[in-house]
Amino acid sequence: MYQLVAKENLAPNFSILKIEAPEVARKVQPGQFAIIRTDEKGERIPLTITDWDINEGTVTVIFLDVGRTTHKLTQLQAGDSLINFVGPLGMPTEINNFGRVVCAGGCYGIGSILPEVRALKEKGNEVIAIIEARHKSLLYWQNRLEQFSDRVIVTTGDGSYGYKGWAPDQIKEMLEGGVKLDRVFAHGCTFMMMLCSEATKPFGVKTIVSLNPIMVDGTGMCGACRVSINGETKFACVDGPNFDGHEVDWDLLMHRQHSYLDEEKESL
Ligand SMILES: Cc1cc2nc3c(=O)[nH]c(=O)nc-3n(C[C@H](O)[C@H](O)[C@H](O)COP(=O)(O)OP(=O)(O)OC[C@H]3O[C@@H](n4cnc5c(N)ncnc54)[C@H](O)[C@@H]3O)c2cc1C
Ligand code: FES
Repeated sequence: MYQLVAKENLAPNFSILKIEAPEVARKVQPGQFAIIRTDEKGERIPLTITDWDINEGTVTVIFLDVGRTTHKLTQLQAGDSLINFVGPLGMPTEINNFGRVVCAGGCYGIGSILPEVRALKEKGNEVIAIIEARHKSLLYWQNRLEQFSDRVIVTTGDGSYGYKGWAPDQIKEMLEGGVKLDRVFAHGCTFMMMLCSEATKPFGVKTIVSLNPIMVDGTGMCGACRVSINGETKFACVDGPNFDGHEVDWDLLMHRQHSYLDEEKESL
């Protein structure tokens, strides 16, 4: 059993969990995820590892309450336990000294981009973090990202805080304004990652996205997380979840993500 050391509400429907998982904390690298199960009859769901502390033996995840399992997670309190917490899974993000990089985060991606921001800064990059939300009440961790980046740009869809608009608009504006970007990283909903990739494509700026297809085993055996990258079939759980956004077949990904909508509603 994996005990929850802390649990907090970050914003409406967003929670943060700190879980005792010393073996995962010892090995995890930026960009990797875990598959969790709340109880014996629970489904497996993948969540990105957002932070970790080797000395404490803990790892942190941030999640949005969207369906049955995330709803169950929302109900848990510090002191409760998860039956499974398997990780770290997936390939770590390539971290190098690229020069000037943008790390864009929306939804749970505001939190899950943090390990990349921190590691890229440690490698000597100029790191610009861009975070987006529909409304200011859905923003969190601006101050944590400010600790590790050169600049944090905040956008809200309704203009209630920061720039009115979305992260891809800011990326586009920078590139059109002549700002040289050496690499872009994006975490969040599929549509946002697709728009970030579209914004950078005409400028040839490599854009790494963290894909979130439906997963089951997370170890390359079931095929549920199949994605098409540059015309080739890849399994996001073992070949990814990070891929070049200019090579992703976004239509296929979105279509497959919606395969079980009726069942998911019924289950909830
Ligand atoms: C590598 C990876 C990392 C992720 N990291 C995070 C994270 O850090 N925080 C976060 O909030 N969410 C993350 N997700 C998405 C998260 O796994 C889903 O929101 C979760 O599985 C929904 O489960 P549910 O039972 O609550 O909702 P459901 O009712 O099952 O599904 C609601 C929606 O979630 C998506 N979904 C459902 N099952 C899965 C599944 N097994 N795998 C992926 N997506 C699914 C579907 O598109 C569906 O529309 C990640 C997904 C992947 C693949
Ligand atoms: S989740 Fe089964 S192959 Fe990736």
